[in-house]
Amino acid sequence: MKVIVAKNNIEGSQKAFELIKSAMDNGAEVLGLATGSTPIALYNTMIDSDVDFSKMTSINLDEYVGLAPDNDQSYRYFMQEHLFNKKPFAKTYVPDGLATDAEAETKRYDKVIEDNPIDVQILGIGLNGHIGFNEPGSSFEGQTSKVALTQSTIDANARFFEKESDVPKFAYSMGIGSIMKSKKIILLAFGEAKADIIKETIEGPITTDVPASVLQNKEDVTIILDEAAASKLS
Ligand code: F6R
Repeated sequence: MKVIVAKNNIEGSQKAFELIKSAMDNGAEVLGLATGSTPIALYNTMIDSDVDFSKMTSINLDEYVGLAPDNDQSYRYFMQEHLFNKKPFAKTYVPDGLATDAEAETKRYDKVIEDNPIDVQILGIGLNGHIGFNEPGSSFEGQTSKVALTQSTIDANARFFEKESDVPKFAYSMGIGSIMKSKKIILLAFGEAKADIIKETIEGPITTDVPASVLQNKEDVTIILDEAAASKLS
């Protein structure tokens, strides 16, 4: 695991972009992508670049259960707005939030991941250490599943919704086992609010209580922080 401390999120996103570019120069064809506020600067960097993504495939980590692709709170909508409409990819996968047969949908998504092995996975991190929507206690071997969001995650995401009761309670999420199979993982964390969980992730014990701590088990992991998120590291 490598830790890079950048001055701010713009510089950190630039470093992540350079890692993606060099992976693409070395044949990477599949990017694993995240939503949330953290990767927005990276997606802007990708959009502003002259790098061609039109032969690339993307696989997103997660989607809220119950939200349609054209719902402006869905992760499909987020990805279209923040990246795909401006920087076309050959093929983009996001779990189907409207799928009602959870078993069929999670199996379908696992097959997507199996058929398109992820070369570079971009991750954010939740305040409780979640990656994707794999909340504390999730198995390190897990595949795609329908997960119940914790109160901490619902609270953190409430800012994007009109009222807290509008925040979906379930999501489809790629599992930690699948995330860990990606060839290369880049986790981004910016801002002081992430400092405590970043310390636990990097310096604490490897435990399912802090899902992101599993990344200590993998060599090709780069954690890119700004100074605020790195401020509690010893
Ligand atoms: C989103 C995702 C989540 C977020 C995490 C951090 O696809 O998988 O794990 O990365 O909740 O969210 P932000 O970036 O909004 O702090």
